[in-house]
This record gives sequence, C-alpha cells and structure tokens, in this order.
Amino acid sequence: MTPRIKVLYDEPMIAQRIEEMARAIAAAEPRDLLVVAVLKGSFMFAADLIRALHRAGLAPHVEFTHLSSYRTSTISSGQVTILKDVDSEVRGRDVLLVDDILESGRTLAFAKDLLAARGARRVETCVLLEKPGKRSVNVDPDHVGFVCPDLFVVGYGMDVAHAYRQLPFVGVVEHDADDKQGELALHG
Ligand code: IMP
Ligand code: MG
Repeated sequence: MTPRIKVLYDEPMIAQRIEEMARAIAAAEPRDLLVVAVLKGSFMFAADLIRALHRAGLAPHVEFTHLSSYRTSTISSGQVTILKDVDSEVRGRDVLLVDDILESGRTLAFAKDLLAARGARRVETCVLLEKPGKRSVNVDPDHVGFVCPDLFVVGYGMDVAHAYRQLPFVGVVEHDADDKQGELALHG
C-alpha cells in the first residue's frame, strides 16, 4: 500500500520563504557566522538555507550536531541526547542554529544553552516550521519559516520511521484507520 501524502508546503512556497529568511538573517550582519544544523531532520532545509545565505551575501562556516529527543513514539520523550557534537570552536562566534521543526522546544533549548555555555557571542535560532501551543520549554525562535498546524508532518528532511525524508515538499501522511505506522519509532 502506498500512503497518500497531503501537501502542506510545496517547493515554491518553501524556496520563497527561505530567500526571505536568509535576507532577514543577513540584515543583522552576523560576524564570523557558524551555521549549526541539527541532524537529521534539518539537512535539506539547512542545505537550501545555506545557499540562500550565500546569495544574501554571507559566507558562513557549517557544522552539524545530531540530537535526539524522539526515540520511541510520536510523543517527545522529554530527554535530549547528543549523538554527534559540533567539531568547531564556537567561542566568540555568531551561531545560527538550524532545525526542521520546533515542537516542545526541548531540542532547540538544549542546543542553544549548550552553545551559549561554550561561549558563543550570539546564538540565533532558525526553524522551518513551528507548531504553536506545544511548547514545554520556553524558547522563542528568531526565524520561523511557517507556523504549521498541529499535525505530524513529513518530507523535506523530516521522517516517520526513517521514511519520507526525500520528499521535496512538506506534507502529512494520510493513514488508513487500521494502519499502525504512527506507532513506529522516529529518528531526529
Ligand atoms: P521538540 O524537542 O519537541 O521541539 O522536537 C523537535 C524535534 O522533534 C524536531 O527536530 C523533529 O526532529 C522532531 N519532530 C517534532 N515534530 C515533528 C513532526 O511533525 N514530524 C517530524 N519530526 C518532528
Ligand atoms: Mg530534529
């Protein structure tokens, strides 16, 4: 059975919004900018955003961290684990933390606090999607692509049980009533 995907944000919408976000990020004239993309979900967004930052006149360095708060279900476990740390020195630098989606806020708050504790001059946060009303930690993203409905979304880097990351758009899987897909493990 091939599940149906309902498109929420298509390629042109995402591309246009990313150009706008890149211009807003560049307008603040960041110094010695280090982009830290939170794996795995943000890889596609980060790749497009970084190229848009180049078009907006910036020359950021790029790092990756892999954090996981989603281990066993579509409900956040509440614990954030570092699966891969950033390699570069962040002290004194302007850091742009990039993630796919902000839900409880635990992932972003954890990463932001960590980079600030390591002496980053400034840590700005940038997420493609924000689900309002789901926050359990107080974290206000500096740049938000879209405020999205409270649905489990996939595509454009985001997965359910490793599937759908390859989709060039963001959508929602439309399940049959007897489908157990939503019970499977999720990964970053
Ligand atoms: P938070 O720590 O609760 O804010 O969760 C953020 C992380 O959970 C994101 O980086 C995603 O990896 C994952 N996540 C939250 N909601 C979704 C969703 O709707 N689809 C896919 N992944 C999600
Ligand atoms: Mg993630």
